[in-house]
Amino acid sequence: MKDFKTLVQTRRSHRKFTDERVTAEELRLILRSALMSPTSKSQRAWRFAVTDDPQTLARLAEAKDAGGQFLKGAPLAIVVMGDPSTNDCWIEDGAIAAIMMQLQAEDLGLGTCWVQMRDRKQKDGTPANKAIHSIMGLPEEQEVLAVIAVGHAADERKPQDEARLKWENVINKSDLTL
Ligand SMILES: Cc1cc2nc3c(=O)[nH]c(=O)nc-3n(C[C@H](O)[C@H](O)[C@H](O)COP(=O)(O)O)c2cc1C
Repeated sequence: MKDFKTLVQTRRSHRKFTDERVTAEELRLILRSALMSPTSKSQRAWRFAVTDDPQTLARLAEAKDAGGQFLKGAPLAIVVMGDPSTNDCWIEDGAIAAIMMQLQAEDLGLGTCWVQMRDRKQKDGTPANKAIHSIMGLPEEQEVLAVIAVGHAADERKPQDEARLKWENVINKSDLTL
């Protein structure tokens, strides 16, 4: 395992994958990290749906008009959902679970990419959420936040450039010199 400092620096979004499959053990560890993630009021109300079916992945790739086509070449995807009618922090809870999964995957040597689905539409105006429900048959009350593509990366990504971090975005009112 990389130390955490290196893990966060080397995690980049990957949109090209080899044909190598994600193992059951890897998937379980990734989902475990989501199920351990912090949630508002400890509700743990998120839902996750997993597919490694190439036809389903190809259909998910068309669930929104742009930015998700690479799902077609991914070996696995995890749909992150929440119920806005019962959890006012469903977006936050889902986003935290998603990044936990991305970091766990990175630690396993796997690549990931977040594909935004909330508030996205297909070319004909159909909400991505509706499209994904009809593709995967998900519980009606669950709203899709994002789909996380997971696989063995086939694209080289450089680690984050330490020199380009936006330290100017930090308002430092502490006594600590950063
Ligand atoms: C909320 C959110 C939505 C994103 N949506 C998409 C998306 O729809 N398609 C995509 O290819 N990447 C998407 N990304 C990945 C970003 O493009 C990526 O994180 C950003 O370019 C920084 O690159 P890095 O992850 O390699 O550091 C999304 C990331 C976040 C956090």
